[in-house]
Order: sequence, then structure tokens, then C-alpha cells
Amino acid sequence: MTVVYFDSPMSDDERRERLFCGDLFVYSPTPQTLALVEFARQMTEEAFTPHFPPDAQHHLEGQAYVDVLAKLKPTFINHPRSKELVGAILDGLGADIGLTYFDVPRLRSMTSEYLNAGLTLQFETHRDTWFSAPFCQINWWMPVYDVVESNVMAFHPPYFSQPTRNSSRDYDYFEWVAHGRAAAATQVQVETRKQPELEEEIAMQPDIRLITPPGGIIVFSGAQLHTTVPNTSGRTRFSIDFRTVHKDDVAKGNGAANVDSQCTGTNLGDFLRVTDLARLPEELVSSYVAKVA
Ligand SMILES: [Fe+2]
Repeated sequence: MTVVYFDSPMSDDERRERLFCGDLFVYSPTPQTLALVEFARQMTEEAFTPHFPPDAQHHLEGQAYVDVLAKLKPTFINHPRSKELVGAILDGLGADIGLTYFDVPRLRSMTSEYLNAGLTLQFETHRDTWFSAPFCQINWWMPVYDVVESNVMAFHPPYFSQPTRNSSRDYDYFEWVAHGRAAAATQVQVETRKQPELEEEIAMQPDIRLITPPGGIIVFSGAQLHTTVPNTSGRTRFSIDFRTVHKDDVAKGNGAANVDSQCTGTNLGDFLRVTDLARLPEELVSSYVAKVA
């Protein structure tokens, strides 16, 4: 059974517990999520001017399009205002901001039948935990413009507790940071970087797709199997996502069960405390690595 909670008043502790069991949470837009959406829209519309961002793919040739994204995405990710607004969102949705750590919010784009590599890569079916995310990682996702069922994300809940054959054994986060990530802007038409992926056919249907208005936010465990569905909507989807961990979960080893992740390394060193952007204590990160190794 997978439960989808809408606008649940549940505490953050209880919410994390349910997320670790595979349940999903959806929240209506809040003043804080709308502020982040507005911030992303301003930046995106300026970058693609005079085109409306969801339609800009029909007006620009490949390299020009990628050049816009190559500038836009890091500017959004690294902007102090983005971090501030993520903190406000978490506070507004009941997270303990003294114990909650987030990684910088990503601005993602998924073009419709146009370019599929590097900065416009369509993420295949995966769990974030195949990419060295900790099992207590929680993902937060929201659309920036209206979305439809053919340009969102799909969840495959039966596989939350069911292992799949996948290539996560070949992935090491520390190696990726050193070599893979920097190469994204050089990949325009074809993706050559090695990413964890399924090594078997699975039952892709039925899946679950949650459609919210812009600024509505979907919360799910990093161990949840999910897919960016092939975008056939004719419009580029822009979305924002970020991840969180709670310090106590890291310390106590709370989190979703590991059914099939075999990667090494951890992204825990990237997380920043909401209150002061401090990183997790190094000894906590290294003891976590030792535990899951
Ligand atoms: Fe993901």
C-alpha cells in the first residue's frame, strides 16, 4: 500500500517515518514555494527573453539553447536567495530548521522531443540512492509552470520494497564530483557519461503521476523508484527540486531500507543546515560512509 497525503498536518518526525516506508506527500502552494517559483520564473524568463521559457525550445537551435541553460542553472543554484527561500519553505512545512540540512535547489528543464543529454538529460528510471544519496534523504519537487501528465515525474511504488537489477555498483559519488558533473555542459545531443540505470525490464505501469499547480510540492523518499516521463507535451517542463536530511536520521541510521543500491561514496557532505548553512559534522559523514560500506 502506498498512501498519498495531501496537505497533511502531520509533524516532520512522523512525515519522515512515513516517507521512509514509501508514502508520498503533496502540499498545495505556500507563500514560500510561490516566492521560489516567482524567483525562478523571473530568472528563467530573463534568460530566454523574448521567448516564454516553456516554448523557447521551438525558437532556438540546440547549442544556443544549451548555452542559455549553462548560464541560467548555476546562477539559480548558487544564488543566496534560492537557499534562503528553500529554508523558508522547509520552515513553513514544519521541518526543524536547526536539525534539517538541504542541498542547493536545482532548476531542471525537460524539453519535449528536443535534445536529451547533459543539461537537458532526461533522467531514466532510478532511485536517488543509486547515486549515493543517503537512505534518509527526502526529495522535494515542484513545477515552475503548469504541468501535465506527459511532462512530469512518474513513481513506481511496487518497487519501493522490491529490488531491481541495476548498475549502481559502478557509481561512486566522489568520482562523479571529480569528473562527471563538470562535463554536463559539453554534452548536447548524446549522453556519454556513465549513470546508474536499470539492467532489466520492469513493470512501468501502472505508475503514479502527481499533478500540482506551480508551487505545489511533492515530497518523497530518495529510495523511491521514479522516472522523468518522456516529454511529449510540446512544452518544456521547468521544475525545482532539492533534497533534505535530518541530522538525527543520519546519526541513528534511520531511513528507507536498501533494497538494491550498491554505489559507494555519499553526497552527505553537500548538505547545508537551514539556519546557518553549516555542513554536517565531518565525523558524522565518515561514520555514515563506514556504516553503509
Ligand atoms: Fe531523482
